[in-house]
Amino acid sequence: MDANELLAFARGPAFDIALIVFVGGMLLRLFEVLSLGRKADLSAPRASGVGGGVRTVGSTEPSGFDRIPSQGELDFDPKAAYVHFTSNNTIMGTQFHEYPDTGDVPLVADMSSDILWRPIDANRFNLIYAGAQKNIGPAGLTLVIVRDDLIGNPITGTPTMFNYATQASAGSMYNTPPTYGWYLAGLVFRWLHERGGLAGMAAINERKAKLLYGAIDASDFYANPVDPTCRSWMNVPFTLTDPDLDSEFLEQAGEAGLKTLKGHRSVGGMRASIYNAFPAAGCDALVQFMKDFEALRPDLSVVVTP
Ligand SMILES: Cc1ncc(COP(=O)(O)O)c(C=O)c1O
Repeated sequence: MDANELLAFARGPAFDIALIVFVGGMLLRLFEVLSLGRKADLSAPRASGVGGGVRTVGSTEPSGFDRIPSQGELDFDPKAAYVHFTSNNTIMGTQFHEYPDTGDVPLVADMSSDILWRPIDANRFNLIYAGAQKNIGPAGLTLVIVRDDLIGNPITGTPTMFNYATQASAGSMYNTPPTYGWYLAGLVFRWLHERGGLAGMAAINERKAKLLYGAIDASDFYANPVDPTCRSWMNVPFTLTDPDLDSEFLEQAGEAGLKTLKGHRSVGGMRASIYNAFPAAGCDALVQFMKDFEALRPDLSVVVTP
């Protein structure tokens, strides 16, 4: 199987789509937008830059983006050209476990940080796009899964290279594609296939996420700010009761081989990114390290009630 066939296998139920591999990160892609906070909203200003009016149809900003807006909170305009949302907020650690129902309004998703995390019903979407760098392969290519009926109607002035029709009809090889990244993506799809495809991957991801959230919830020393129903299986942010210990935690974790746990600079704290490629044994090691680190500071584990 080549990369296309393997992805077609991984993607689940078939529908009339084109699979397009683009060069460049996802911010080159590119309404209505469902706001989940920075990173999740990256496409909105770009959409307005190409002539579209942008309206936010739901946002959890008042509570610090600690959850996903529920279906009942969303206010769609049935005449909107499309609704855009990001399925996993890489920074805040929130994730859609149920996708929004937009009726007849086309649904567009940025799945850069959780594509291939579990089987999904691709028929729910008109367009899915994802930068490769989390669950597909090396940075530098972007995957676009788009329904045939959305191809071929570009805004005036769209450069040839950014026209999906150009790339779809050329098998994503209108010009020289990022061949090495594409080849490596194929190896990743094969790796997924060998682990039982997306269903197999979902079981592994669930075990990893539950272990980590379980350890955080069982402790008064660590906390995760996200509503439990909206927690991401890919990015697990957590804080220490005493933020003055953050740097010590990170330093000792690094020495124990647990690297890059520093939270995004916009939110601070810690973040464990446990994408598909991160092994379950890594989560076991992190949980053990967290317990050991906490055990050395028993005075800080005591909950003080007013
Ligand atoms: C959900 C999401 N969207 C978009 C981006 C930005 O992607 P790129 O840097 O490839 O443009 C990221 C970061 O990788 C992300 O996590």
